[in-house]
Amino acid sequence: MRSPLRVVSLISSVLTVTGALLPTVPAGFTNEEIAIVRKNLIQVANQSWELGTAAEALTEFSWPALSVFNASAFPPPAHLNVSLNATDVLLIANRTVSNKPPTSLALIASEGSAADPASIGVSVLLANWTRPDLTNTAYAQAAGDQLKYLLGSTPRSDAGAISHRASEVQLWADYVYMVPPFIAYFGALQGGEGGKSLLQIAYDQCRLYRDALRDPSGLWRHITLGSWQDDTHWATGNGWAAAGMLRVLQTLNHSSQAEKFAAQQANLTEWIQEILVASWANQKPNGTLFNVIDDPTSFGDTAGTALLASVTYRMAAINNDTTLIPAANRALKLIQDSVDEEGWLHSAVDPYTFHNPLAADAHSPEGQAFVLLLHSAWRAFSNVFSQNKRVITLV
Ligand SMILES: *[C@@H]1O[C@H](CO)[C@@H](O)[C@H](O)[C@H]1NC(C)=O
Ligand SMILES: *[C@@H]1O[C@H](CO)[C@@H](O)[C@H](O)[C@H]1NC(C)=O
Ligand SMILES: *[C@@H]1O[C@H](CO)[C@@H](O)[C@H](O)[C@H]1NC(C)=O
Ligand SMILES: *[C@@H]1O[C@H](CO)[C@@H](O)[C@H](O)[C@H]1NC(C)=O
Ligand SMILES: *[C@@H]1O[C@H](CO)[C@@H](O)[C@H](O)[C@H]1NC(C)=O
Ligand SMILES: *[C@@H]1O[C@H](CO)[C@@H](O)[C@H](O)[C@H]1NC(C)=O
Ligand SMILES: *[C@@H]1O[C@H](CO)[C@@H](O)[C@H](O)[C@H]1NC(C)=O
Ligand SMILES: *[C@@H]1O[C@H](CO)[C@@H](O)[C@H](O)[C@H]1NC(C)=O
Ligand SMILES: *[C@@H]1O[C@H](CO)[C@@H](O)[C@H](O)[C@H]1NC(C)=O
Ligand SMILES: *[C@@H]1O[C@H](CO)[C@@H](O)[C@H](O)[C@H]1NC(C)=O
Repeated sequence: MRSPLRVVSLISSVLTVTGALLPTVPAGFTNEEIAIVRKNLIQVANQSWELGTAAEALTEFSWPALSVFNASAFPPPAHLNVSLNATDVLLIANRTVSNKPPTSLALIASEGSAADPASIGVSVLLANWTRPDLTNTAYAQAAGDQLKYLLGSTPRSDAGAISHRASEVQLWADYVYMVPPFIAYFGALQGGEGGKSLLQIAYDQCRLYRDALRDPSGLWRHITLGSWQDDTHWATGNGWAAAGMLRVLQTLNHSSQAEKFAAQQANLTEWIQEILVASWANQKPNGTLFNVIDDPTSFGDTAGTALLASVTYRMAAINNDTTLIPAANRALKLIQDSVDEEGWLHSAVDPYTFHNPLAADAHSPEGQAFVLLLHSAWRAFSNVFSQNKRVITLV
């Protein structure tokens, strides 16, 4: 756990040059602390969605110029160099495509989930775009096959939502992080009418999933349709939904066709905010959200809390609305206190059962990624507030 020395180094308040008091910005993780969280993530991420989430977290953390949060995202450079190399991200894409059987349209064969392998697709598209050997068509082929699989071979709900599962129509909040960001990234790279229609599909999938999963409180249920359901407001599920819509929002915003998608951006912004407001309304005094956000018999979950805090910092950096920053700051403090000296996140949900606390000796690969996403989002928020508003920090 954190040493007392690190805790007292929290910045106590921030003041603009004009004297307006902004929300307290706590000190984030140190570079040393976050480096071991990253190392552990790379060590334990092995399931399809864990690899996709790791690729996104590594991009946001180490290569922010390549992430969809950056105005320079499209197009990415055709050639990476020694200082901007994305080696860790491209390794995930390389291993995935190298291991893909030629008979599989999905990036990983026989997963059961139609959606999870697609989460690796953004890194595969980046690998294609930046490949040194222009005769290598393996990445483009694999990404194209994955898209074809989603659009052509996966069952859909009556309204048109592409199923999260391969064998029956079942909609999971998780899908929103795995699929629409990939389809949107594909469309932003492709450009033209074809690209525009993919950007619209990415948005529509978010809209259809919200229609199917959102409850009147603004929170999303975890799983609907199919042979079984999970009607609980799972914290990580709400995080997947908000964070996935955020990546689509930023892909639209930074694509060359952004101005054609103003109404879609406005809706996504509202839908993300709706989840954040409903979630933090249930925050506990120590900063945690419960694993089932609005169930008092549930337990604290640092993983879902970290993911939703990351979205909160990102949205504030984008929209300059700091209303929810005090909640994010409380969450950040909790997460810092829940990462041990070896860089492991504790007090998270077991990501494979959804509804049990993680065993004391177990790790959450997605939780490790969420810490990296949180740190990257906190850093982006801190940068905007110190550069654009000339914030003076008083330690
Ligand atoms: C994935 O990693 C976990 C430990 O984090 C391990 O228990 C499991 O066997 C690994 N699975 C595969 C397919 O490598
Ligand atoms: C965006 O990328 C540029 C380099 O292309 C970098 O200077 C800048 O800091 C990045 N901004 C963010 C918000 O990541
Ligand atoms: C690496 O590429 C980036 C993006 O194209 C560029 O900004 C940077 O100057 C390059 N660095 C070197 C050392 O060439
Ligand atoms: C990739 O970039 C990182 C950070 O700039 C650097 O530490 C590393 O040595 C580079 N790796 C390669 C293979 O160029
Ligand atoms: C992965 O990298 C290896 C080593 O550089 C290379 O031989 C192989 O062609 C790459 N795989 C793909 C799919 O490009
Ligand atoms: C692969 O990269 C090339 C640029 O080298 C680009 O023209 C092509 O559209 C890319 N393919 C995909 C599927 O993004
Ligand atoms: C991109 O997002 C910003 C912040 O929300 C917004 O002001 C801007 O209008 C958006 N750009 C486009 C082209 O829609
Ligand atoms: C935005 O959401 C509103 C309300 O749900 C809806 O009426 C409208 O059609 C949506 N706009 C787009 C572009 O989907
Ligand atoms: C935070 O407080 C809740 C009770 O509100 C408790 O269940 C949870 O274990 C605490 N979390 C941590 C990480 O201490
Ligand atoms: C951001 O918010 C601050 C404080 O609420 C305000 O002073 C500033 O004008 C805003 N800037 C923008 C670009 O909206």
